[in-house]
Amino acid sequence: MTHAKVGDSQRGEDPSVRALEQYAASLFGKEEALFVPSGTMGNLVSVASWTRPGDIIVASESSHVAGREGPGISNLAAVAILGIDTPGGIFTADDVARAIEEAPLRSRAKVRLVTAENTHNAGGGTIFPIASLRRIHSLCRKTGIPVHIDGSRIFNASVASGVTPADYGKVCRSLMFCLSKGLGAPVGSIVVGSRDFLEEARSVGVRIGGGMRQSGIVAAGGLYALRNNVRRMAEDHEHAKALAQSLADLPGIEVINAPVETNIVLFRWRMPTVSLPEFQEALHERGVLVDDRSFPFFRAVTHLGIGKKEIARAVRAFRQVFGRAAA
Ligand SMILES: Cc1ncc(COP(=O)(O)O)c(C=O)c1O
Repeated sequence: MTHAKVGDSQRGEDPSVRALEQYAASLFGKEEALFVPSGTMGNLVSVASWTRPGDIIVASESSHVAGREGPGISNLAAVAILGIDTPGGIFTADDVARAIEEAPLRSRAKVRLVTAENTHNAGGGTIFPIASLRRIHSLCRKTGIPVHIDGSRIFNASVASGVTPADYGKVCRSLMFCLSKGLGAPVGSIVVGSRDFLEEARSVGVRIGGGMRQSGIVAAGGLYALRNNVRRMAEDHEHAKALAQSLADLPGIEVINAPVETNIVLFRWRMPTVSLPEFQEALHERGVLVDDRSFPFFRAVTHLGIGKKEIARAVRAFRQVFGRAAA
């Protein structure tokens, strides 16, 4: 990153950004790619490029697009989100067909986009089966509806399932993935797709303030991550499985997404015996931070900053704190 060659990326003149975009597009077998500051912006420019105000998009009800980004997308792309409620956030072509049929009953608006999240965050890093994605893509192609993959963690899906990025590229018209998160780059996400789609996405990106200048500095970190940090994600999955196994052995702890598929462990403390601040303090003293969003439900995510030592430390802390509370 300190040696990155830079230029004005908004004018397509930053060599480091261009190298990253070209490499990313080639990995997924797509014509072009766009480097954006965040996954949220990558999804927004994709949705806004495929739709017009008043359209409907179909997504799993628990998806990031529908939940966390819903207000932004509804406000800025002015689309309605039709949620499919399925376990783990994974849906089938039949679910999509039903949603498309139902939509006109609710309003005169039309479904213009289907988005699938792979892996599915809220479902616990669940992998969208490639066979389902193929069927959804083929159904949507018949009706002229593009499929967008929110592939924030697509490389976790790829490493765990053996399905290549190019195969994922074949079952969608656009795909967003994050260079941050498990890949370990400090900043940034990528949208890949056809030249026409990217032309629109670029112009939407500039309109919403995503046109960056000498962003080659961060793009260089992204390119390094893509070249060096994909295969090692298998270790993250092993660490997550080890964590889940140790947690499942603790009294009063239920691992919600067993067996763990990728790098996310969801678990629940059935009958908490201490308050959240007491719990946080006890863990903090043992070197583990817990946020206060969903106590007594927890989400632990492994990545390249977490090794065997850190997993062992977390397990020790949980064992002491949960064990002490149970005693
Ligand atoms: C599935 C999914 N999509 C999109 C995002 C948004 O990414 P960012 O935080 O870079 O905006 C996240 C972030 O957690 C996510 O989990």
